[in-house]
Amino acid sequence: MTQVRINIDGHALDVPAGISVAAAIAQSQRPFRRSVSGHMRAPFCGMGICFECRVQIDGIAQQRSCMVSVRDGMQVVTDG
Ligand code: FES
Repeated sequence: MTQVRINIDGHALDVPAGISVAAAIAQSQRPFRRSVSGHMRAPFCGMGICFECRVQIDGIAQQRSCMVSVRDGMQVVTDG
């Protein structure tokens, strides 16, 4: 299986090509985001509806990580 290397919060991670960014973050065991009250949030629906999986991807904030596939060299920043 082809692997790609992404970067999550400064940590390089090799993951299978074609998986979602949400799956890659889950594999890394990094947190996703915090609510306005500071509570940790994580993906709920996995299909772009709940917006609980938002992270910064390649400098663009508030991206739904369950709706974006990993690309080699991708830079992901969570609220972790
Ligand atoms: S997990 Fe619900 S929008 Fe991504």
